Formats: sequence, C-alpha cells, structure tokens
Amino acid sequence: MENVKSWEGSRCSFGQIKGVPLLEPTVQNWELVENFRAQPDDLLIATYPKAGTTWTQEIVDLILNDGDAEKCRRAPTHKRMPFLEMFPVPPLESGVSQLDKMPSPRVIKTHLPIQLVPQSFWDNNCKVIYMARNAKDSVVSYFYFDRMNRIQPDPGPWDQYLHKFMHGQLCCGYWYDHVKGYWREKETKRILYLLYEDMKENPRDEVIRVMRFLEHPLPDDIIDRIIELTSFSTMKENPMANYSTIPDSVFDRSVSTFMRKGEVGDWLNHFSPEESRLFDEHYEKMMSGTSIPFRTQL
Ligand code: A3P
Repeated sequence: MENVKSWEGSRCSFGQIKGVPLLEPTVQNWELVENFRAQPDDLLIATYPKAGTTWTQEIVDLILNDGDAEKCRRAPTHKRMPFLEMFPVPPLESGVSQLDKMPSPRVIKTHLPIQLVPQSFWDNNCKVIYMARNAKDSVVSYFYFDRMNRIQPDPGPWDQYLHKFMHGQLCCGYWYDHVKGYWREKETKRILYLLYEDMKENPRDEVIRVMRFLEHPLPDDIIDRIIELTSFSTMKENPMANYSTIPDSVFDRSVSTFMRKGEVGDWLNHFSPEESRLFDEHYEKMMSGTSIPFRTQL
C-alpha cells in the first residue's frame, strides 16, 4: 500500500493516459496498473461504465460457484472481483493490491478501453467478457451515477453532461471507441461480447453463452436459479450485490441508488426530441462502418 497514491475524500479530477480521461488517482498510480501481472486463468470482465458490469459479475460468480447463493454472498462485489484500476482512500485497498493477495483463479473488473488493458492479459491469452449497453441508456445511467458518486467529477447539468459523453470527456473516454475496440478485437482474442439488451430480453440464452465461454457446464435447474438470483429485483435486495456496503459519504443515496432502474429505454424519459435527433446524427458518424447490433428499445 505504501506506494499507492489515492484520492482524499472529495470529488476527483481527471488526468489522462494516452488521451483517455481517467480519475486522477488511477493516473497517479498508472505504473501499477500497466505492470499488473495477469495469470493465464484470470478472467477479465470489461465494460464502459454503467453497461451492467455488476450484473455480469454476479452471473459469472454464480456460474463459477455452481449457483450457490451463499458462496456468492461471501463478500461484496468489489471484494469478490476487484476493480483493477481503482485506487480508493485508505484503509480501503486498491484493486491491484487486493489482486496481488488473491488466490487463482481470479475474476477482475475493469472499465479500461482495450488499448489500456495491461499487456500481460494478452500475453497470457486471458479470457475477457465484455458487456456493452446502448449509448443512450448508458449516458442516462452514468449521469445518475456521477451525481450520486462523490468520487466522480461533478457531472453538472444534463445538457452539458450529454455533450461531454458525446465528446469523450467522461471517465474512460469515448463510449464509441470503447465498444468498437473490444468488438474489433474479439476476432483475434478470447473475448465474449455481450449486450445488456440481449441479457434483459433473453437471460437464459445469454447465461448459457457465458457458461459455455467459461467451460463450466451446469444443469437446467441451476441455470434457472442463476437467472432468478441475478434478476434486477433480487440483486437490488442483495447487500452483497447492490453496493449498499459503500458508505453514504461516497454514494449519496439521497440522489440515486446504485440499482436504479435496470431498464432498456429509460433514455426516453430524459432526452428531449432535439437532443435525441442531434445525438443520433452524431452517433451515425461515430459508429459508421461498425455492425454492433445495439438496440435502444425492446
Ligand atoms: P440504471 O442506472 O439504468 O438502473 P454497472 O454495474 O456497470 O455500474 O451498471 C449499473 C447499471 O446496471 C444500472 O443501470 C443498474 O441498475 C443496472 N443493473 C444492475 N444489475 C442489474 C440487473 N440484475 N438487471 C438489469 N440491470 C441491472
């Protein structure tokens, strides 16, 4: 812990790594992230923020533990599956420091765009599960999260926040580059690419895809149990999966809760018609030439 520099109890500012905005403590400790020593049996769960990371983590943990709910309640999400590039205030431990002590096989969370993922993951041919969510619901979810999370830079008003999202000025940079980067590399690396909307529409098929990717076959009744245990309503009540262990000094629950709505299409309640039109125009340009089948409504 001695070499770790961390935030000091208020909203962070951004620094940059290779042009990507990241929280200042991450930038300050970048060497520790860049030199992270992945092992061949590490599993990386990667997302742009608010794509359903926690949901994916819970599904993975339940699969690896054969649907045993008690085992998956052994600790809160961020302790079971540490967040690689997170450097919180001491005595809370950084992701790197937790991972250094963790026995294999480890499941690791990251929001890094693919070009910033430590090289050791690729050298070891590690498996990666990437979850992506449509841009409009992502930015709405991110807005609420940045308002309630007192570590994140102040989001400001919605219209300015939307502009920042479109221009890659939020933590982790451009959503467009993030989703395209992993999509491109899935042809040459061991990446399972999931979509939030597919998981919402047909969790059974998607959980089976994850199970096969993990080479961890389970009988039908266990799959059913995993689907139930990872439904929005069940996870919302699970203190080991809903971030209720994070103190109010960090998550201001008078503003929003972590398990907020968990829906597809909530953007319709937030974008004005004009914002939606401008966003769509810009989206077409940013996503031209890509074929990721995002859906903004089911
Ligand atoms: P909303 O803010 O739209 O409700 P992340 O874990 O990447 O931070 O993503 C958080 C988003 O995923 C939040 O979206 C949260 O409600 C949603 N989410 C978490 N668990 C979910 C589940 N089991 N089913 C559907 N959505 C879920």
